[in-house]
Amino acid sequence: MVAVRLGGLDHVISASRFDRSLLTTLFARAGALEGTRGQSLHGRIMATLFYEPSTRTRLSFESAMLRLGGCVLGTEAAHVFSSAMKGETLEDTIRMVCAYADVIVLRHDREGAAAQAASVATVPIVNAGDGPGEHPTQSLLDLFTIERELGRIDGLHVVICGDLRFGRTARSLARLLCLYEGVRISFVAPDVVQVGEDIRAFLRDRGVSFTLHSRLEEVIGTADVVYQTRVQKERFTKLAEFEVARSAIRIDSATMARLPARAIVMHPLPRVDEIDAVVDDDPRAAYFRQAANGVALRMALLEMLLA
Ligand code: NCD
Repeated sequence: MVAVRLGGLDHVISASRFDRSLLTTLFARAGALEGTRGQSLHGRIMATLFYEPSTRTRLSFESAMLRLGGCVLGTEAAHVFSSAMKGETLEDTIRMVCAYADVIVLRHDREGAAAQAASVATVPIVNAGDGPGEHPTQSLLDLFTIERELGRIDGLHVVICGDLRFGRTARSLARLLCLYEGVRISFVAPDVVQVGEDIRAFLRDRGVSFTLHSRLEEVIGTADVVYQTRVQKERFTKLAEFEVARSAIRIDSATMARLPARAIVMHPLPRVDEIDAVVDDDPRAAYFRQAANGVALRMALLEMLLA
């Protein structure tokens, strides 16, 4: 295991690793770093090891590292372009990459892969998505975005919709929202992709109020945040279930007409057709601002892990 670092942050595997004071520190630092370049990570090396496709997560991590004066190396499509193709275990790969880099950002198609990597790593592992498991740094930038857009997180009504069964960003977001007072969560999805029992139990244990719905209309009138997600086509084993889920929840101009004036629409992206492109021009559409916030948030996180 790596030594305990600033804020007690070593590996970032699950959103449940964070507490509120750590988030306050992280968001303040991210706000201060936004738009800046510096040398605080000069001479440090970040490896990105991606076994699944990515645009925003990998490039924003790389941009964050470069803006802090660090260096990056990595492989995408790692199942094909790394020695995994030759049968190397993830553990052996991680052992090697630890000799080449000071931090490893890992995306894998298997739930639990990041924890497995951390069990042999001698440098911090950052989970950039482990199958349908979690995506903690996405939920950090999601909360950072909510705080910036609405000025607070306490007391908000957050509607999380789309694919809540396989969507790891939704799962991590629900975990992080537990840290705030008086938050109410409405999960909106058809039964085949409704949020799992593990997340429901996590929320119940922490006394967080949540309800389940199949239609956005039931909750949108009181929403502060609508967090839409892509139906994760690649994770379905039954085509019939995917067909049920694919077009169940859509956000279009009719949805926006029901949404309160000060609410925001978020999405981790990439979007397919679950948010109509006409919504993009609405000032309440926060998803591109949300994606941009990923750079500053990941700068602050890398500093916390490495500085
Ligand atoms: C998400 C992911 O990979 O989980 N994308 C992201 O990192 N912003 C969401 C998705 O793929 O639908």
